[in-house]
Amino acid sequence: MITVPKGTKDLLPQDSYKWQYIEKTAREVAALFNAKEIRTPTFEHTEAFLRGVGETTDIVNKEMYTFTDKGGRSITLKPEGTAGVARAFVENGLYAGAFPSKLYYLTQCFRYERPQAGRLREFHQFGVEFLGSDSAGIDAEVILFAKTFLDKLNVGNLKLYINSIGCKECRKKYHAALKEFLAEKKDSLCDLCKERLNTNPMRILDCKNPDCKEIVRGAPVILDYLCDDCREHFERVKSLLSAAGVEATVDPGIVRGLDYYTKTVFEFVSDSIGAQGTVCGGGRYDGLIEEFGGGKVPGVGFAVGIERLLLLLESSGASIPEPQPLTFYLAPMGEEERKVAFRIVADLRKAEINADTDYMGRGIKAQFKYADKLKAKFVGVLGSDEMQKGIIKIKEMQTGNETELPVSELAEFLKKV
Ligand code: HAM
Repeated sequence: MITVPKGTKDLLPQDSYKWQYIEKTAREVAALFNAKEIRTPTFEHTEAFLRGVGETTDIVNKEMYTFTDKGGRSITLKPEGTAGVARAFVENGLYAGAFPSKLYYLTQCFRYERPQAGRLREFHQFGVEFLGSDSAGIDAEVILFAKTFLDKLNVGNLKLYINSIGCKECRKKYHAALKEFLAEKKDSLCDLCKERLNTNPMRILDCKNPDCKEIVRGAPVILDYLCDDCREHFERVKSLLSAAGVEATVDPGIVRGLDYYTKTVFEFVSDSIGAQGTVCGGGRYDGLIEEFGGGKVPGVGFAVGIERLLLLLESSGASIPEPQPLTFYLAPMGEEERKVAFRIVADLRKAEINADTDYMGRGIKAQFKYADKLKAKFVGVLGSDEMQKGIIKIKEMQTGNETELPVSELAEFLKKV
């Protein structure tokens, strides 16, 4: 038997309504915030992610699905949504439009990670990128967007952590201080962190290795190294959030796993879905559009992992509205009736009524059983007697009430139920 590749999942019909509900809610909230959808390709030139996500990140170093296509180009399946949006923004000259440009996407992403609950190799993101404003207001707006979406889904139990990782200048000073702090202990760091010490020391704070975790205890925090501009920006984000009633905890340990971030970074974290509790992550990225040759256009955004969101919804017992069941099932008694039933059902659909009939040659009892499985609201019976009189016998499944109707009045009747 051919099985699904490790770290991927089929979305089965009995679950698809949950995804549709999340996607619908995402689009509704996007409309409330005046964001427009953008769709970028599933794969990009590898260069887009080297430049966008950054060469010192785990994503680029270990997790990308990269291959050479038949034309000899290096291609990568997108590990996240932001870099592709930045590339598309520049390539399509979207910076010529009105700012801020508010974009959102629903996309699959690919990372070669060790699969576990909430961590897949193909997963899905609902992401948002607001481009063109360097004001702290838009950072707060993006965080409020994420919160509005998560609240609308009723996923209680989430905590918002925010931090500022400053600009290049702040980070230069901070990296020097961090290196100094780690100088004596560097031999005890894991191999990866030894490398990080030279490429991106801040990322050592994010290492899951218990020895590294212990070593960075008491390390200097970035917030003490922010320049005036970055500090003021962060203060303003915090005060706007508090004015909007959004509770946020400052955590200088939030450094994020992608290189493009500047200033504000944030995560919404749950402690009820295991180790992969970060449901949403995001932040500001003021140099990214420039990396793609698009001039000085600042940006800020976030992405929510849909699979983690579903785990959270299920663990919190939040209700996901079930799809409307079948309105009408028409059970024909024989071959002749089957032909007429086919036409009646076709007419009902023209009248926007969701209806179904038999295609398995089942007997009447088996058809009732089947209609019950489909949770049909009404079942109609069409036998030779009914055909002759031009009527249909109808049973309301929940009450057992039965009635007879002329075929010509069926659509009208079902429209009202
Ligand atoms: P990220 O933190 O790498 O950020 O991913 C965002 C979210 O995607 C995570 O919080 C998580 O819910 C989900 N996610 C990540 N990896 C996996 C995985 N292997 N399996 C399941 N879910 C996963 C970004 O991707 C940034 N592009 C977010 C952003 C947008 N920043 C600014 N704009």
